[in-house]
Parts: sequence; C-alpha cells; structure tokens
Amino acid sequence: MTEYVSVAADDRAESRSGVIKLHGAEGFAGMRAAGHLAATILDALVPHVVPGVTTGELDDIVYRMTVEGGGVPATLGYRGFTRSCCTSINHVVCHGIPGDKALKAGDIVNIDVTPQLDGWHGDTSRMFLVGDVPLKAKKLVDVTYECLILGLEQARPGNHLGDIANAIQQHAEKHRYGIVRDFCGHGVGRLFHDSPEVVHAGRAGTGPELRPGMIFTVEPMINLGRADCKLLDDGWTAVTRDRSLSAQFEHSIGITEDGCEIFTASPMGLDRPPY
Ligand code: MF3
Ligand code: CO
Ligand code: CO
Repeated sequence: MTEYVSVAADDRAESRSGVIKLHGAEGFAGMRAAGHLAATILDALVPHVVPGVTTGELDDIVYRMTVEGGGVPATLGYRGFTRSCCTSINHVVCHGIPGDKALKAGDIVNIDVTPQLDGWHGDTSRMFLVGDVPLKAKKLVDVTYECLILGLEQARPGNHLGDIANAIQQHAEKHRYGIVRDFCGHGVGRLFHDSPEVVHAGRAGTGPELRPGMIFTVEPMINLGRADCKLLDDGWTAVTRDRSLSAQFEHSIGITEDGCEIFTASPMGLDRPPY
C-alpha cells in the first residue's frame, strides 16, 4: 500500500521515508521559482555549448548563474560530488563530472542542473548538440525528448507511475533503443531525492497512483544500444556498457487537479534541440 502525507511548505521532514508527500500551494510556488531558475540557466548555456569549450567552463557558468539567481547548486558537495552540474557526453549516461575535457563537433552532451532556491530544488536537464551531429545521434536525442513528453502526458490524477513508464518504454522500444533501468526519476522538493522512485519502463496501471500535490522528476535515459550501464572508477560517471550513445531529458513537475505543471519549462522555448 502506498502511503501519502500532506505536508506544510515549511515541513523539514528529513529522510526519504517511503511516504509520498502531497505539497500545497506554497510548495508549488517554491518549485515554480526554483524550476524557473534551473531552466533559465540551461537557456543561458545554449550559446556556450560549442566546439572547444570545456565542461569545467560550462560548470563555472552554472555556478555563477545559480548564485546570482539567489540559489545554491544542490550537487555541490552532494555525497562528495564537487561540481555545480553534471555534464554527460556521448556514451556517458548520467552524472558526468565537469572538468578539463573540451567538447568537439559531433558530440551530444546532457547538462543537468539543480539549483536549490529558498530550500526548493529545481532539477532539469537537456541535451545539447555540439556543431554538426550525425543523424543517428540527432534521432536518439529527438526520440528521447519525445519519450519525456509522452511520459508527461500521462502525468495526471488517477493515472499511475506505471502509465508514465509505459508511455516512455513503448516509444523507446518502437525505435529499438535501450531504456536505462539503473537510474530513475525521483520525488523532489525540499529534498533533492525523495520518494517515490520514478521508473522509465514498466506496465501501465502499476505503481503508486498519482495524486494532486505530488512533485517529482521524469528523466528517461535512452541508449542507442543496450540498456546496461557501468560505473567508472571516479564513482560517479555512468556509461553504457556497449559504449553506445545515450541521451536524457529531465523535467521537475507537480501533479495538479487535472494534469501536471512543468516547473522547469524553458522561458525561452529552448526545450528541444536544435536550439
Ligand atoms: N541531477 C541529478 C538527478 O537528476 C542528480 C545529480 S547528483 C550528482 O537526479 F551528485 F551527481 F550531481
Ligand atoms: Co533528477
Ligand atoms: Co537532474
């Protein structure tokens, strides 16, 4: 049985208790502001994601914009992570660590930011195409974006998390892509990673029922090849086992009375590449 609890906006409940929080208007307002900052940061990165830029330089921009926006990068110091965003290039599935590596034409890169603003976490990521990108990479990015949107179309009261997962899975499998099972979406709010776990493949009608006030991410990772991942020795970087390309998009959303609110939609309409 899934348990739900209504929480006040100032609720400091610590751990992921397994209970699903139902947030009120103040929580939605907090997430709206944090999500707006997150999306604004990704918008601002667009002209900077070009051949020759290093992922460390992009991370510096994320740090500066987060702080100027009144926030704190939630990833900075998170379980030993030392950067303000994740940069995941080509066969990197997620949690790539920004550094000295320069982007080159033909790369695809996911940039994942999570500013914490007034205690609320705006968690979002997009793919960026660096220079001219091979058609098969562009198509992977396109289909992954469509997976996210098809998933979000299932995000309404009465549906289940399995309906979101199934919509994503159907679309990815139609294209014979691998859907990563090792990482999931998650509840988000005052906690960076909260209950429930939001899977990206599964059976329709299964899993917790969606109720107004739930706030969580949907963040499918889709591979050109097999779904299997492995972790590099740095303890963070997840890559595809077969070294095939991987793509991901992420939004933070809240379930409303009749659908969902996307907190991290691009203010500039730059949700889907090419930008
Ligand atoms: N933003 C990632 C997510 O979508 C989490 C990154 S944690 C880090 O959940 F430590 F790797 F940055
Ligand atoms: Co997330
Ligand atoms: Co994220």
